[in-house]
Amino acid sequence: MKRTLTVVLVLLAFVGFAAAQIAQPSTDVLGAHLNYGRGCAACHSPHIGTSGNGKSGSASSGYTILWGEDMSPLYGKTITTGGGKYVEVLPSSISATTPDVSGMLTCLGCHDGNFAPAAMMRNKVYENLPATYGNRNSVPTLLATTGTQSYVSDHPMGLNVTVSCGGSAGWDCTEVNGMINMGGAASRRFVTSYGFFVKTGVYNNRAVVVCTTCHNPHSMNVVTVGRNSNSGLPAGTYATMFFLRAPYNPNDTNPMSNQTAQFCRQCHADKSNEMNGSTAGTTF
Ligand code: HEC
Ligand code: HEC
Ligand code: HEC
Ligand code: HEC
Repeated sequence: MKRTLTVVLVLLAFVGFAAAQIAQPSTDVLGAHLNYGRGCAACHSPHIGTSGNGKSGSASSGYTILWGEDMSPLYGKTITTGGGKYVEVLPSSISATTPDVSGMLTCLGCHDGNFAPAAMMRNKVYENLPATYGNRNSVPTLLATTGTQSYVSDHPMGLNVTVSCGGSAGWDCTEVNGMINMGGAASRRFVTSYGFFVKTGVYNNRAVVVCTTCHNPHSMNVVTVGRNSNSGLPAGTYATMFFLRAPYNPNDTNPMSNQTAQFCRQCHADKSNEMNGSTAGTTF
């Protein structure tokens, strides 16, 4: 009797999860990064860097991931984030080997709006936002328009922004050479019900936050959980928005859905259910 009940409960749990999985999307996963038709080559130029893309800059832009946008106006610029507390000096060349080259400089090549040419940007989000956003669909995509100071109101990022284990705010995880292992009792429980999708960069053997930590420029609206994913969610396809690397669907019709909050809790452990004595898991 008890066993049947357990089986039923387990099955119910899976039905709940299954409902969270979405049918395979019918739209192109590159979404906004189809770049209004230019495609992959807007970012990766198959030949001669930016000049192969008909743009100014030099062939050396292609030394790293065949980059095809001119980022040279950003080289060596200092930006401060997180209320001005975190200072980031952008790499002085694309050949620098720090994680802020492919993880930050690349994005700012189009999304800066201040020093960089902004490419084909229209400065407003491409996806349809739900009514929970105030001024829908006019959310800007250029992060800076008023000089280096305009990053002050952005989430902390750069080589000095480290994700830590332990302490009053961190997970009960362990960090070895800048790689985070969510192996503690609470962090394991969180990974089982959501996952640890973020991709931190490694700098001075510390895990650091860059744009690609939270965003995957290759998939706007879908996250695939496979057998080897660092997530206990059943394998399948989950909805996301804004190229975020983890399930993040503010369009979810369930008003009790907490998946967007779970996204932030991947790093902000002190704000999680697990670290605050609640047994609640992820609700889609
Ligand atoms: C909006 C810009 C952008 C577009 C468009 C884009 N990429 Fe990328 N790509 C990047 C960035 C940025 C990285 C580096 C990611 C990182 O370091 O985490 C990258 C990395 C790569 C890599 C090397 C690392 C990896 O993830 O395998 C390959 C290969 C690649 N992209 C292929 C493609 C292909 C093929 C397309 C088109 C289907 C494409 N990219 C479209 C920005 C873009
Ligand atoms: C070649 C130019 C280019 C590069 C490089 C680029 N983007 Fe974009 N991105 C775009 C365009 C174009 C849009 C559509 C919105 C617009 O026109 O303003 C967009 C939109 C977005 C959006 C909003 C999507 C939505 O929900 O509507 C996000 C988030 C984003 N980009 C993140 C990134 C990140 C992170 C990187 C670096 C890994 C990056 N982009 C690099 C061109 C670029
Ligand atoms: C700590 C995680 C994190 C980092 C780091 C991060 N983003 Fe985002 N970004 C988000 C989230 C979450 C959203 C969606 C916000 C929402 O729901 O409206 C977002 C939204 C965006 C948007 C859509 C417009 C907007 O303002 O909502 C753009 C464009 C964007 N990010 C670009 C970038 C670029 C470029 C970088 C690096 C310079 C970056 N992001 C770094 C988490 C991050
Ligand atoms: C990849 C890890 C990561 C993710 C994901 C993340 N954060 Fe953070 N956040 C950090 C780090 C690291 C700091 C720097 C301060 C610290 O050490 O706690 C920070 C700082 C902050 C701060 C304080 C900023 C200040 O000015 O002091 C706020 C607020 C914040 N995050 C909110 C969010 C929200 C909201 C989300 C989800 C949309 C989010 N974070 C997702 C890592 C992350």
